[in-house]
Amino acid sequence: MKLCIDHADISKIRHIYEFYPADGVSTNPSILAKTGRPPYEVLKEIRAFIGTDAELFVQAVSGKAETMAEEAHRIVRELGDTTLVKIPCTPEGFKAMKQLKKEGIRFIGTAIYTAMQGYLAAKCGAEYVAPYINRIDNMGFDGIQVAKDIHDAIKGSGLDSGLLAASFKNSQQVLELTKYGVKAVTAAPDIIEVLVKNAAIDAAIDQFTADFYELAGEGRTMADC
Ligand code: G3P
Repeated sequence: MKLCIDHADISKIRHIYEFYPADGVSTNPSILAKTGRPPYEVLKEIRAFIGTDAELFVQAVSGKAETMAEEAHRIVRELGDTTLVKIPCTPEGFKAMKQLKKEGIRFIGTAIYTAMQGYLAAKCGAEYVAPYINRIDNMGFDGIQVAKDIHDAIKGSGLDSGLLAASFKNSQQVLELTKYGVKAVTAAPDIIEVLVKNAAIDAAIDQFTADFYELAGEGRTMADC
């Protein structure tokens, strides 16, 4: 499963890349807006850091198929062909997806709240489809179940697509989909950090260190004792 960072702040992206096995970066217009900077300036900075092999996800914002397709071409021209354009799963979005598929532009279906949106985007040729787990939960439905339904529908239909599950509030949501074998998840840096945040882990490591200092002397390690 790929683990992507749902953020645009380069210092946070650098931090997650330093400590965790990150595979790419996803953004959306709200995430870009939080930087307060010109979008392509921010995105080029991220691209330069993650390299040309890693996938970068960038959303088209216009509501019409033709202009979304124009945005998609500009996004790929500016940021390279490992950039996947996020297209909202609306009727206009599906129309744009069909065109982009013919034109060889890579894209994903986003803003997914229902299983059928995900299935149709996969059928249009989306490499990934992005259900919004926590936002679905907040509407009183089961985000994990929607994601699993989409995963099953894609696999059951033999479509060449997979999930880029998004919108997480806690590590349990990420774990549930990791166990289910989804293609990718994207989570904010604070959620990625909380995946392994546990007082019991810290206490165990502290005890190991204290015991070793007792044996070999304060500050000693296996490299210098
Ligand atoms: O791009 C979609 C995803 O980032 C939404 O996450 O946390 O705003 O619900 P959130």
